[in-house]
Amino acid sequence: MSEKPWGGRFEEELDAVALRFSASVDVDKRLYAQDIRGSIAHVRMLAARGIVTREEAEAIERGLLDVKAEIEAGRFEWRDDREDVHMNVESALTEAIGPVGGKLHTARSRNDQVATDMRLWTRDAIDATVGRLDRLVGVLLIRASGTVSVLMPGYTHLQRAQPIRLAHHLLAWVEGLERDRSRLLDARERLNESPLGSAALASTTFPLDRAQTARELGFRRPMRNSIDATADRDFLLEVLSALSIAAVHLSRIAEELVLWSSQEFGFVEMSDAFTTGSSIMPQKKNPDMAELVRGKTGRVIGDLVTLLVTLKGLPLAYNRDLQEDKPPVFDAFDTVDDCLDVLTGAIATASFREEKMRAALREGFLDATEVADWLAAHGIPFREAHHVAGRLVGRAVAEGKVLSDFTLDELREEHPAFDESIFAALDMETAVERRNLPGGPARAQVEAAIREIRGELEARGVDLDALSKETGARPVVRVTKEPA
Ligand code: ARG
Repeated sequence: MSEKPWGGRFEEELDAVALRFSASVDVDKRLYAQDIRGSIAHVRMLAARGIVTREEAEAIERGLLDVKAEIEAGRFEWRDDREDVHMNVESALTEAIGPVGGKLHTARSRNDQVATDMRLWTRDAIDATVGRLDRLVGVLLIRASGTVSVLMPGYTHLQRAQPIRLAHHLLAWVEGLERDRSRLLDARERLNESPLGSAALASTTFPLDRAQTARELGFRRPMRNSIDATADRDFLLEVLSALSIAAVHLSRIAEELVLWSSQEFGFVEMSDAFTTGSSIMPQKKNPDMAELVRGKTGRVIGDLVTLLVTLKGLPLAYNRDLQEDKPPVFDAFDTVDDCLDVLTGAIATASFREEKMRAALREGFLDATEVADWLAAHGIPFREAHHVAGRLVGRAVAEGKVLSDFTLDELREEHPAFDESIFAALDMETAVERRNLPGGPARAQVEAAIREIRGELEARGVDLDALSKETGARPVVRVTKEPA
């Protein structure tokens, strides 16, 4: 009998180039655990339906578990000439237990098999990535709770705009990551349906119990349409989209770490464990890890585009093109997982430089809005108030001053409404504290946000103390107060 399951009508062996071109086992062997899990569910159901005997099903299940043990012990010989993970496992099974192994594939096709494997694998991968996202969020929360007192400039157009708290900025990163998490979990919910029983495309003549296999594999229900079940890869597009957006978030965080660790900003010093030096310039400490996180984002976006292009124009149902779904999906998860781990470690161990942030607050007229708001609160129309503040900024620039250097008389030259209370309004701490709306940077608001996020993390079982020990993330000690 030929090695190939379709060997009956084939007289010649597959051409060597064609074999190399089409074999996917190097990539899809990563699905072995899901493949075996799906096969066990299938064969148990075959036995429950009387399609194979109990004894046959038990022999097959034992054989599959042996194959799994061989793989995990590193003793399994993966063979290119057996094309993919499915045929490697099945052929090894049959070699081990004899021809009865051939009954496993009754009422099944690799088309519903691979669709099932990918859904199972993706479900597991989402859970692992979500766990990593939770860790990064946890580390940001720990760092935020230690930096509520640290003021810094907030930016728009990369120009100093208004004073904020460092914690407020770190928690802004958290919000994006929380949405990434919920996008992945949404996709997980939608993909959690079972293709098994769809066979090649038109289901099968055998009286399968699709609900049983769905249940056993933890799927919500069997997919409703057998053609769709074998042809659909939307679930991978959704996941790749969610991963691309997450990668973009990580890249934006990384970009800020790169900026902040430049001498021009000096807001952060990355730890030695997450930076490298230069082989020629002894003074350099480069934020390579952050740069690479930024750099790797292109790959993840590329993975999404790869699969979109693969699917575009494919007729129903299964086409071999679909085999090309795996490299981009595996790569996107691997890349995002690595980026998450690296950023978690880098942020846990970074030193924030409070004095540099304070010094940056002194230049750039971050109090100009306070002047305008003060006047507006004293009955001056905001447009006029804005104009007055603008004139004062212009004058301060010309005279090499900051706004708080002006005397009350000088301020009154620009507008008679000014009184002594304007000076208190120019204080940065006051400016931040007056922004006391939900979502704002005032201490009470930031502390409320921290409490809320901590509650959510704890409800998910994230142990912040353990995380802090393991990553070295401590709330306070790593804020340095060196001379600016
Ligand atoms: N290795 C194949 C894939 O990943 C499995 C399905 C093959 N089906 C087929 N009819 N040739 O898509």
